[in-house]
Amino acid sequence: MCDTMRFIHISDPHLTDLTGVPSKAIRGKRRLGHLSWRRRRHRHLRANLDALCAAFSELRPDLILVTGDLVHIGLPEELAAAAEWLRDLRSSAQILVTPGNHDLYGRDSWSACRSRWGDYLHLPRNSAANADAGEPAWWAGFPSHLRFDDIHVYGLNSGLPTPVGFAAGELGAPQRRRLADLLAAAPAQALNLLALHHPPLPGVMGKRRALRDAAALQPLLGGVHLALHGHGHWNRSYGLGGVRIFATGSASTKHAPFRLFDIQRAAKGFAVRMELRTKDGAQFNLAQAEEFIVSPAG
Ligand SMILES: [Fe+2]
Repeated sequence: MCDTMRFIHISDPHLTDLTGVPSKAIRGKRRLGHLSWRRRRHRHLRANLDALCAAFSELRPDLILVTGDLVHIGLPEELAAAAEWLRDLRSSAQILVTPGNHDLYGRDSWSACRSRWGDYLHLPRNSAANADAGEPAWWAGFPSHLRFDDIHVYGLNSGLPTPVGFAAGELGAPQRRRLADLLAAAPAQALNLLALHHPPLPGVMGKRRALRDAAALQPLLGGVHLALHGHGHWNRSYGLGGVRIFATGSASTKHAPFRLFDIQRAAKGFAVRMELRTKDGAQFNLAQAEEFIVSPAG
């Protein structure tokens, strides 16, 4: 590992603009989603997101983690627009995206997501062919897995098309089993980092918005050291046992929050410094910092 691995976490940019989308594209559940966008559109401003991304080039991260909800109602046109934004962001660093419920909003969303965001999902080429029997296509191949020497990053897909009024997530048993296999295969000295859209613990959000199989995921979190998520549009750090969990708010809102993590080798594992930075006018200021040691083998 080079001296320090640096990564950035952002979430829920909701970057698309639905102005001018033909009404024939807004059907079924998307009608309510469109109304919701009309209410929220002044909260999610592209200028805030652009200011945040402009701050990244001088930080020179190794990886930018984007934990979902890049769009509003999962229209193929929105997913294509988000791909253009991702392509521009890639000039700053490698990118890993984990989809959110707004990205996989409709049954037609996944195929556009897979084809447009392929470079950022980091799925194996044959992931669809190797899906478990009955496993929905959108979970096949997840978790993604990136390695930075002894730092292992796993991207889960908790998104799925839900009925009207629900923003719940789920991983499904095959995806959880594949995560268990990856964690079991990781070296004992590895730092394991999980990224997903929904909070990974039960009880963090109400039933309509929660990860349905969080209780089944919980035993696996014993092998995880850091977990990052979005979905709640709030900044929070919490934990359970040995896993530290960080939620980051929406990247396109007034304070455009992002988290910066620097991870260095230490005598007994890894020294981690986390900074939460938020926008105040034209500046990004330090809103919170935490330093801690991760000791995988102990
Ligand atoms: Fe969400």
